[in-house]
Amino acid sequence: MSISLFGRSLLTLLDFSPEEIQYLLELSKKVKNEAKNNNVFRRFEGKTLALLFEKRSTRTRCAFETAFGEEGGHPVFLSTTDIQLGAKESLEDTARVLGRMFSAIQYRGFKQETAEILAEYSQVPVYNGLTDLYHPTQALADFLTLEENFGNVKGLKLVYAGDGRNNVARSLMVISAKLGTHFTVITPDELNPDEVLLKKIAPLAEKTGAVITITSDINAVKDADAVYTDVWISMGEEDKRDERIRLLSPYQVNQKMMDKTGKSGSIFLHCLPAVKGEEVTADVIDGPQSKAWDQAENRKHTIKAVMLATLTKC
Ligand code: CP
Ligand code: NVA
Repeated sequence: MSISLFGRSLLTLLDFSPEEIQYLLELSKKVKNEAKNNNVFRRFEGKTLALLFEKRSTRTRCAFETAFGEEGGHPVFLSTTDIQLGAKESLEDTARVLGRMFSAIQYRGFKQETAEILAEYSQVPVYNGLTDLYHPTQALADFLTLEENFGNVKGLKLVYAGDGRNNVARSLMVISAKLGTHFTVITPDELNPDEVLLKKIAPLAEKTGAVITITSDINAVKDADAVYTDVWISMGEEDKRDERIRLLSPYQVNQKMMDKTGKSGSIFLHCLPAVKGEEVTADVIDGPQSKAWDQAENRKHTIKAVMLATLTKC
């Protein structure tokens, strides 16, 4: 079966079949290999990309901007202080106008609904560069990193320790269920992933054999092939700082936790930015088990693959 994602948006990986996700990962490997061999083409020549940011970013912005620009495309960075995004004119009208001028739109911000409205009214591909609910381009880079380290992701055990209800944990849960990776969330009961998502995930996981586990017991890290964490306080939640530190301190990823996997080949993952000394200790993230820097690089290759698949007949 030949796969085409031409014209599609990436709002959440829930919208993509396991075959489509695998296709994006294979394309990412091809793109990465091209980059390593200094093969840069002009595949986005004549195309434009609006980069809409309501929240800060280093990796996501740089990945979109360099991946698109180095292949002849014209990316335009627009923060909320530059444009009307639901202020003065409706979001729908802004989306209609952007759709007349841009080949695609990247949106990073608060509401998933904003990404959905942008896609509906612009009629061009919209890429979710992080919302409060999902971070799908991150999950693609994470799974490319897992494939690079372990070959196949099916049957691997991925453990996420930290805020179980945030965008990164949710996206990892979706991609794990789709690709048959066993996914364990270690989090205090107060921060359990929401029931609505768990209900959506259950039939997907059943199909692929992925076992999804939610627990507050840090011993569940045993046998993990990869241990993942993210910041305890996501963007927009700064007022929850004291509560999060109190709840999540027992879940810090440190060498003791890494050793609890019982596997010498287990790796450490982090989407970055990291607050060293909070969710992870410096010796772990800067140590030999850490693949966080490969993950960061892989943001660019996977994002280029998503844009190639949706904007060109590659
Ligand atoms: N991982 C990630 O999305 O990083 P930025 O916030 O720097 O884009
Ligand atoms: N959960 C984090 C991810 C940052 C890439 C946040 O939303 O701030």
